[in-house]
Amino acid sequence: MKLFKRTNDIKEIINKFKRNNLSIGFIPTMGALHNGHLKLILECKKKCDVTVSSIFVNPTQFNDKNDFNKYPRTTEKDLEALLNTGCDILFLPSEKDIYPSENDKNYPLGALEQVFEGAFRPGHFQGVCQVVDRLFKNISPDEVFFGQKDYQQCMVINKLLKTDPSFEKINMNIVPTVRETDGLAMSSRNLRLSSEERKIAPVIYETLQKVKQNLKPGDLTNLTDEAKHRLAEAGLVPDYFSIAHAETLVQINNWNGKDPLVALVAAFLGKIRLIDNLTLTN
Ligand code: PAF
Repeated sequence: MKLFKRTNDIKEIINKFKRNNLSIGFIPTMGALHNGHLKLILECKKKCDVTVSSIFVNPTQFNDKNDFNKYPRTTEKDLEALLNTGCDILFLPSEKDIYPSENDKNYPLGALEQVFEGAFRPGHFQGVCQVVDRLFKNISPDEVFFGQKDYQQCMVINKLLKTDPSFEKINMNIVPTVRETDGLAMSSRNLRLSSEERKIAPVIYETLQKVKQNLKPGDLTNLTDEAKHRLAEAGLVPDYFSIAHAETLVQINNWNGKDPLVALVAAFLGKIRLIDNLTLTN
């Protein structure tokens, strides 16, 4: 695995690959890698000649400075995991390299950034777009890989790909959420749960599954109320538990039995905010 820290250097090697007609797959990360990330690397390796990943804890997507400061930074371990998984290139830029000047671009995300994560973390998706835009422009990937765990982020990236003509040829791959054996979605934040909290956390996925089992056309309010109640009883404090149209993320309170649905949840367990989702209609 080759490591690059400067944008000019990574661009140079990417151009070399492109001249040799090699396809480039890209997985952006913020490090603290777990099997969910490694699955993205493996999927990329199946599809692309060259697998590129990046580690950059992006300050602009944290609306809480404390969360940014506490974000786990485990670079040595991450390097080893990427090496063992067969990643070819790692981009490890500095903040100056990614943000050489003040950023004032606004990304037209529309309603997508007003709901769920967008509503509870104002500015978060603008920050995600800022960094992903810059990374995509430096790496010029053919294929990009994102985890379904961040369902709304996947939709935001899809929108970014559609609205910027320079990304027209990039193909988006959404890889199913990787879970622990007890169902908890893998996340860097799981590392910050106490052992007591870690025992409680699988209730999130259990609740999502219960909702899927009990889904029927008609009013969905009871179903989501029960889900919130179940989470609260286990000791979680939900920011939201909602059922939405799987393609538009418009909240659905009354289901016609046809629209594709996804259930989305964000909840605090102690100080740790966990998110998860489950498509309900496939
Ligand atoms: O999903 C993440 O880890 C981040 O939001 C991303 C896409 C790497 C951008 O910083």
